[in-house]
Amino acid sequence: MAAAREAVEEAGKILQDGGLVAFPTETVYGLGGDALNPESSRKIYAAKGRPSDNPLIVHICRWEDMSLIVREIPETAKKLGKAFWPGPITMILEKSDRVPRETTGGLSTVAVRMPSDPTALSLIRAAGGYVAAPSANASGRPSPTLAKHVEEDLGGRIEMILDGGQACIGLESTIVDLTEEIPTILRPGYITKEMLEEVLGKVEIDGAILPEGCKTAPKAPGMKYRHYAPKAELTIISGEEEAVVKRINALLKEAEKKGLRSGVIATDATAGRYGATFVKSAGSREREEETARELYRILREFDDEAVDVIYSEAFEESGIGQAVMNRLLKAAGHRMEMAGGAV
Ligand code: TXA
Ligand code: MG
Repeated sequence: MAAAREAVEEAGKILQDGGLVAFPTETVYGLGGDALNPESSRKIYAAKGRPSDNPLIVHICRWEDMSLIVREIPETAKKLGKAFWPGPITMILEKSDRVPRETTGGLSTVAVRMPSDPTALSLIRAAGGYVAAPSANASGRPSPTLAKHVEEDLGGRIEMILDGGQACIGLESTIVDLTEEIPTILRPGYITKEMLEEVLGKVEIDGAILPEGCKTAPKAPGMKYRHYAPKAELTIISGEEEAVVKRINALLKEAEKKGLRSGVIATDATAGRYGATFVKSAGSREREEETARELYRILREFDDEAVDVIYSEAFEESGIGQAVMNRLLKAAGHRMEMAGGAV
């Protein structure tokens, strides 16, 4: 679903005048401001309640527009652009003087992405070509995948929200740092390491985003923040399906004895097997992309329902499943146990 043309034109004017507009992208909703206007970037940080050392992604709609904002375009960027843009991947490159430090959180590099969502592309064009946009959530909440999530978090604090329906991917873009000798993934997403390696050859993953790396400082400043933590205590249970169902049901009984409200993140195949008031299916276990699309909505719903504890099944780490588990582990503060034994 694309937003109406008049609405996009109006939104473009708001951005040109230094205002803020939330808009759909294929990953999550973004909170846009003019990337070349330092005042707009300041407003973005204020509206989200986000620390101003956490840089913003600059969204473009034409490959030619890259040259104004980066110092040089390496071969790796050309290859990635050709393979995956417009699409859910963000490249980190050395910035030019045209990009204000307010936009890059004081860094000398800039994050650039060309989204594929048609509303996003028309808006960027209408705004003059450069739209700085973090995810359009209040700092500390899950990224919005529906316009109503943006309304809940930022309604009344920004000039306009463009509604483009549900974001079709549901998790933020893959971020790849191209300023290093070997391209490095700073945040996993829909475009996986394997997909990148097919185009670039060797690719590394920033140690800080691996499960065992939570103590090293991540290179994407945003990944260092505790990020979203649900109001409830979230625990992930991994293992064989039968063992997981049994263990979660045992945990639910314990929670009930303590008088706690509990929730479960299940899959289509298991959702009917849990004795909790709030059981939500993250889709079919065979289709990780369904889980990616529904995850943030589910976590927001649990917050609204004020549950005390959430138990989630673990998901396969293949394809976008890797990004799903990355976000789920963060939300759980890395609390994960193996059904039938400790991890
Ligand atoms: O899918 C997405 O990327 C969405 C949509 C709206 O495009 N945007 C998004 O932006 O997720 P945000 O601000 O929520 O996350 C951007 C991440 C942060 O972790 C930030 O620290 C990192 O990108 N980042 C931005 N510029 C960077 C830079 N120059 N060097 C390293 N990390 C950077
Ligand atoms: Mg974000």
